[in-house]
Amino acid sequence: DRGAIDYKNIRTKLVLLGDSGVGKSCIVLRFVRGQFDPASKVTVGASFLSQTIALQDSSTVKFEIWDTAGQERYASLAPLYYRGAGAAVIVYDITSPETFEKAQYWVRELQKFGSANIVMALVGNKSDLHASRKVSTQIAQEYADSNGMFFIETSAKTAENINQLFEEIGKRLP
Ligand code: GTP
Ligand code: MG
Repeated sequence: DRGAIDYKNIRTKLVLLGDSGVGKSCIVLRFVRGQFDPASKVTVGASFLSQTIALQDSSTVKFEIWDTAGQERYASLAPLYYRGAGAAVIVYDITSPETFEKAQYWVRELQKFGSANIVMALVGNKSDLHASRKVSTQIAQEYADSNGMFFIETSAKTAENINQLFEEIGKRLP
């Protein structure tokens, strides 16, 4: 009787989307290697990394991560990376309202063209720069709630909420 055993061992394609400079590559580097690079270079095209985590119930989740390039010239490539993705992390910078606008563009794009059951997370990164905050937590939370997304503020620099972000996605995967 395996009825009591309901942990899962799953593998999912995860895509990161968001404006150039919001910290997508730094979030991935922090998550996968536990490091921060203050001189992180812009991503060209996209880069791929994978990382496996264990959840509290002993489930394991292997994330196959596509870290896309946020510069406008690469925008047309995005569908190659979000197609078939089970999870999407849409990142903005809490000090930059323009990047929050761009995040909403990606949410709409995924709602139209992403997988039907995609788990979407809205991430306000650079929470360590609270003195320069220009996007309120409450407005972002309300936007996420009204779009059925999970919301969290992170700092790739201090590591705040980076592991929590991926754990919460893992828990929400079917
Ligand atoms: P593209 O590859 O062009 O799409 O940009 P990106 O979103 O991957 O940005 P990247 O991770 O390269 O980070 C851009 C800049 O923001 C770098 O100078 C980082 O050091 C800085 N940065 C990233 N995350 C944080 C953070 O949490 N806090 C602070 N203070 N700076 C950060
Ligand atoms: Mg990058």
